[in-house]
Amino acid sequence: MDLKTKYLGLDLKHPIVASPSPIPQKLDGIRRLEDAGAAAVVLFSLFEEQIRYETESYDYLSQASSNTFAESLSFFPNLEDFKAGPDEYLNIIRRATDASDIPVIASLNAMTSEGWSDFAHQMEQAGAKAIELNAYYIPSVDQSSYDVEQRYIEMVKAVRQSVKIPIAVKLPPYFSSMGDMALKLIGAGANGLVLFNRLYQPDMDIENREVVPSLELSNPHEMRLPLLWIANLYGHVGCSLAGTTGVHRGSDVVKYILAGADVAMTTSALLKNGIGHLSTIIREFEEWGDAHEYQSVSQMRGSMSKLKVLDPSAYDRSNYVKVLQSYLPKRDLEIRQGRWDPVV
Ligand SMILES: Cc1cc2nc3c(=O)[nH]c(=O)nc-3n(C[C@H](O)[C@H](O)[C@H](O)COP(=O)(O)O)c2cc1C
Repeated sequence: MDLKTKYLGLDLKHPIVASPSPIPQKLDGIRRLEDAGAAAVVLFSLFEEQIRYETESYDYLSQASSNTFAESLSFFPNLEDFKAGPDEYLNIIRRATDASDIPVIASLNAMTSEGWSDFAHQMEQAGAKAIELNAYYIPSVDQSSYDVEQRYIEMVKAVRQSVKIPIAVKLPPYFSSMGDMALKLIGAGANGLVLFNRLYQPDMDIENREVVPSLELSNPHEMRLPLLWIANLYGHVGCSLAGTTGVHRGSDVVKYILAGADVAMTTSALLKNGIGHLSTIIREFEEWGDAHEYQSVSQMRGSMSKLKVLDPSAYDRSNYVKVLQSYLPKRDLEIRQGRWDPVV
């Protein structure tokens, strides 16, 4: 099978990309991802707050600002604790693009469009082949859905104005109308959508009555939501689609590509099994394609999307009804399969 694919206009040798994680925080991690076969690497995210803090601190020292933004950072983690500040981030881009042959995509985490978007231009100049915008935003209780959507749209517009390289938006799944939102983001200048940003909700420590940050690595079944939306969006949006979340085996990549993704991204599987596991995922994907006589990734892509599948209602409300009706309690299942022994 011809494994080549295009993502954000970039030619990739196959559709498996390393998503942002602590692994590409160091040049050595990026090199090891490339050695394990990654088609491209998305760097860890630089946060809007880190860029604005540096800018405002400079303005403050030169008496140009009251530094109110820096005061508002009192609830944000200590900026000294971040692995890389803005300058170091640009350095990592420069060194990574010099040292590796695969595209390096920079990642920016933001929630506004003010005071930081010019930094995207510096990322472009440092050699980033594209920018992934990763937004984490919890709206206030009285904020309208229109305001929330505008925030995303303005953010994409601001970055579009400062760079020529492609922009992908790693978006959350919680919009009332995902298709409409996708089209609006593309209208604002996005060249690709990464489905979805895995929002890490806090947990509770009930003994100490504290709300605590908590990060669980993903499971393959978590890919169902992005899979559903990639299958729905395929053929309706003129942009690249990336499936992220739940890619642990080659078969998970197969599902994303069949649904209509250009690439599948992975992190948890590499943190669990080691960076070398990437080559297993790539091999399994290729073996499946060969065994099922696909000539190319483009032949496979979207062939199980809502547009192409024999029963498109499988992606609709009727699936919900079928799922609920098809559930069998354990005993009924055992009786049907002839495995139930009333004596036991
Ligand atoms: C430890 C850790 C750090 C991460 N850091 C980032 C980050 O800086 N930016 C980002 O967009 N996603 C980040 N992610 C999310 C991953 O890129 C990915 O979207 C998520 O883990 C789901 O994919 P997976 O199922 O392959 O793990 C991080 C994930 C983990 C586990």
